Amino acid sequence: MTIFVTGGAGFIGSNFVFHMLKAHPGYRIVCLDKLTYAGNLSTLEPVMKNPDFRFVKIDICDREGIYKLFEEEKPNIVVNFAAESHVDRSIENPEIFLQTNILGTQVLMDACRKYGITRYHQVSTDEVYGDLPLDRPDLFFTEQTPIHTSSPYSASKASADLLVMAYNRTYGLPVAISRCSNNYGPYHFPEKLIPLMIANALADKPLPVYGEGLNVRDWLYVEDHCRAIDLIIHKGRVGEVYNVGGHNEMKNIDIVKLICKELGKPESLIRHVEDRKGHDMRYAIDPTKIHDELGWLPETKFADGIKKTIQWYLDNKQWWETIISGEYQNYYEKMYGSRAEV
Ligand code: NAD
Ligand code: DAU
Repeated sequence: MTIFVTGGAGFIGSNFVFHMLKAHPGYRIVCLDKLTYAGNLSTLEPVMKNPDFRFVKIDICDREGIYKLFEEEKPNIVVNFAAESHVDRSIENPEIFLQTNILGTQVLMDACRKYGITRYHQVSTDEVYGDLPLDRPDLFFTEQTPIHTSSPYSASKASADLLVMAYNRTYGLPVAISRCSNNYGPYHFPEKLIPLMIANALADKPLPVYGEGLNVRDWLYVEDHCRAIDLIIHKGRVGEVYNVGGHNEMKNIDIVKLICKELGKPESLIRHVEDRKGHDMRYAIDPTKIHDELGWLPETKFADGIKKTIQWYLDNKQWWETIISGEYQNYYEKMYGSRAEV
């Protein structure tokens, strides 16, 4: 069994690589990654010498290179994590999101058609459903919820999902899609809420909360997401969408306060700053389908997961300090330097 994991040098992809090598001894895992600003080869250091693992630096939009690799490795399954993943960056510059997230997906599926695979899995997001109002806690995203996107990022992910379903219906490509809520855990890139707040709090820097901080996200420990994808590629039905989430809704402001408390830092570091454009209010997944069909349930409670995550960032300072000391400083200045307090 050979599995292509695209985007495996990023946050969730790397956790998936570790999970698969541990859970399925004997499987060959080939990681395809362009190593954009979000990809880190150092993350994969612990498995680089594993004979069941191979890393290939490649852009999923590079059709010729991707075809060559399919010819060489003859993968059985492709799991596509590769994407531009940050909403704020998509607001600044949508183009690369359309290229990688839509056209890159097309190249991978064309290769799957040409060389034959048993399963193509698209890692998607709950953001394709848009958002839910704060005053309707009874509402959740199901697989039937209409696509209704807000940001260039979510529009690009939704476009890819539509293309994936079209390749199933038109060409009979054996596909499935998972739509997961917000992940957290080790190797989360420091531009995202939880690691950004941990890094800033540790440096006694201001904690920039967008608007009032009342937006709700449904947090899932990354390992639980990886187990869900593992189950779907082995036992999920072809042509189906599976929502993945753990009924763990939290307001942004409460997450930031919790991080302050865990790190013994004062809440006076919190700054309410100019809101994200088109900011989604609430995400909330109904995971009934994956639970009923595949028996999936999250294993890590948020109270434990957030402690583990904070401890990981304390124990692995070198990993994230290296990232935030380079080009990231320019990104941070651009995104936050002129953001007014509100
Ligand atoms: P990430 O930004 O941490 O990692 C993305 C990885 O993809 C990086 O290693 C990057 O180098 C690689 N990549 C980017 N463009 C590429 C290209 N053209 N060719 C090859 N590799 C490329 O992202 P993440 O948070 O790990 O998200 C992974 C996937 O999961 C994405 O598809 C995202 O939409 C989806 N997702 C993320 C979350 C979340 O909370 N982080 C939740 C649901 C779904
Ligand atoms: O729901 C799944 C999605 O979760 C994934 O598809 C995306 O790839 C992933 O990045 C994530 O998107 P979000 O926009 O929800 O994540 P982010 O960490 O950027 O922001 C979480 C919330 O925190 C959001 O309401 C915006 C807010 N925020 C974020 C940052 C970076 C702040 O208040 N301040 C910040 O500095």
